[in-house]
Amino acid sequence: MNLYDLMMKRRSARNFKDQEIPEEIVEQLLDAANNAPSGGNIQPISVIVVQEADARKELSEMVGDQPWVKNAPLSLIFCIDFYRIKKWASVSDTEFKGEHALEHFLIAYADLMCSAQNVVILAESHGLGSVYIGTILVAIDQAREYFNIPKFVLPMMVLSIGYPKSVPKNVPKLKRDVITHRERYRKLSEDEIKKAFDDKYGKFEDNVRKYIERIYVEAVEANKQEKHPWADLESIKKELEKLNIKNNAQFLFRFRYPTDEMVKLNENLISAFKNAGFEFF
Ligand SMILES: Cc1cc2nc3c(=O)[nH]c(=O)nc-3n(C[C@H](O)[C@H](O)[C@H](O)COP(=O)(O)O)c2cc1C
Repeated sequence: MNLYDLMMKRRSARNFKDQEIPEEIVEQLLDAANNAPSGGNIQPISVIVVQEADARKELSEMVGDQPWVKNAPLSLIFCIDFYRIKKWASVSDTEFKGEHALEHFLIAYADLMCSAQNVVILAESHGLGSVYIGTILVAIDQAREYFNIPKFVLPMMVLSIGYPKSVPKNVPKLKRDVITHRERYRKLSEDEIKKAFDDKYGKFEDNVRKYIERIYVEAVEANKQEKHPWADLESIKKELEKLNIKNNAQFLFRFRYPTDEMVKLNENLISAFKNAGFEFF
């Protein structure tokens, strides 16, 4: 399959077979992670390879009880690593203050995602599936403690990888023209924006049903994982009625990612950053 077709076919996989990944492939994935672009080629990242059952279970709970994390034979924890850079600078009779420099931080985060996405694509080409787990951000302190992660190192992203039993169907995306601006930014009107998202998600009730089937029912039931309250359409419908949620945007920003709660997460993140020695302001 050519690379374009592979990329168009890729879906986040959450339903994994109980099948180990051969060590040669794991090593190739790590080579791909290491050979990614890096701002200034500083490579301020580390990747923790998680394969043992206990650690998989612990990680899966830490990130908000996501069962696919423990079912995946391999999870990679991508960390911003200024510990190594700071030590190298200090033994070289100079100083590196990346933990106070937002620019270094943002570039390191971009490096980290380049590295992770290299792994996603190579994994796909080996018939593997993967899913990013962004909720590691709510468990930075816990992850640092469990995985012995020192100061100046921040676990920022997890990628869980395995041979997929199935992958979700009907994952909606915006039309390409909505995200594309040729030469200059083209501001869409309110009507165009509404239409763009209506086209993406379709009718609210259908979207909610498809979402639940896609994200949860498929992963939870097809994989015989324990039944989770997330996967229960009826209880979710009741909750949506209670919260007076009537459209796709409300579903996202009042139910899945309640926007005030998201703002409140700042406190936890800022404190986890501080605990790891990162302070920007
Ligand atoms: C930054 C980031 C964080 C994500 N975090 C999670 C997560 O915590 N749990 C999960 O099941 N999927 C997670 N995903 C996967 C998304 O849900 C998925 O990419 C999205 O639904 C689009 O589906 P697709 O990857 O098949 O295109 C994450 C994806 C990204 C890029």
